[in-house]
Amino acid sequence: MKIGIVGAGSVGSGLGKLWTAAGHQVLLSYSRNVHKLEILAGEIGPGANVGTPREAVEFGEVVLLAVPWQAVTDALAQAGSLAGKLLFSSVNALKSDFSGLDIGTTTSAAEWIAERTPGATVVEALPVNAELLHSPSLRFGTQVPSVFYCGDDANAKATVARLLTDAGMDPIDAGPLVRARLVEPAGFLVAQVGYGLGVGPNVALKLLRR
Ligand SMILES: NC(=O)c1ccc[n+]([C@@H]2O[C@H](COP(=O)([O-])OP(=O)(O)OC[C@H]3O[C@@H](n4cnc5c(N)ncnc54)[C@H](OP(=O)(O)O)[C@@H]3O)[C@@H](O)[C@H]2O)c1
Repeated sequence: MKIGIVGAGSVGSGLGKLWTAAGHQVLLSYSRNVHKLEILAGEIGPGANVGTPREAVEFGEVVLLAVPWQAVTDALAQAGSLAGKLLFSSVNALKSDFSGLDIGTTTSAAEWIAERTPGATVVEALPVNAELLHSPSLRFGTQVPSVFYCGDDANAKATVARLLTDAGMDPIDAGPLVRARLVEPAGFLVAQVGYGLGVGPNVALKLLRR
């Protein structure tokens, strides 16, 4: 699958590496230093290329939006129309000092983004702590991290679930996009436990089922 990546930081580059290893092609975009993107694409290998956010949208059957909350408006402006695209958002509405969420529980970053991307199908999934995406393995013994995803289109959700599986995670359907109001705080909670309480980045959430 062709995946355009807008924001190739910790999350975007980590997923880009894992997806190309699984046979997907990615186009990395949106940096204040284009040279950085070229180096990253070189490290990832032949499955990765570099372009502008608009080119990432044209390229991708799926477009990953992985930018800080404060950069979303600018990134979407640079990306142009996303009509007809599956927009996979990993954006959490973190305050710039990481002290909490800018918005949450009565609305969400995902809904805010969906309102501003007419014609796009938005699915949100907050990957695990990004350091894990860059570690040698996502495995915890026989287990892999659970990741909640939510959206209003069944086909788009199935595609995102497949991409999460391809990246080595256990996708959990959290329901419609409105569930992002809960998924985003949960993502922040995991980050707080990992970093805020000093457990370190090697923690992840696991949903048990039987
Ligand atoms: N990190 C995590 O563990 C984690 C987990 C779950 C969800 N999330 C969410 O996923 C999103 C991406 O997180 P991340 O950790 O990957 O972010 P990040 O490492 O800071 O990456 C941000 C990307 O956006 C680019 N960018 C371009 N213009 C920017 C600007 N004006 N301001 C800031 N960045 C700009 C950065 O490029 P340059 O720096 O090269 O310019 C970089 O490629 C966030 O919304 C975050 O809350 C993160």
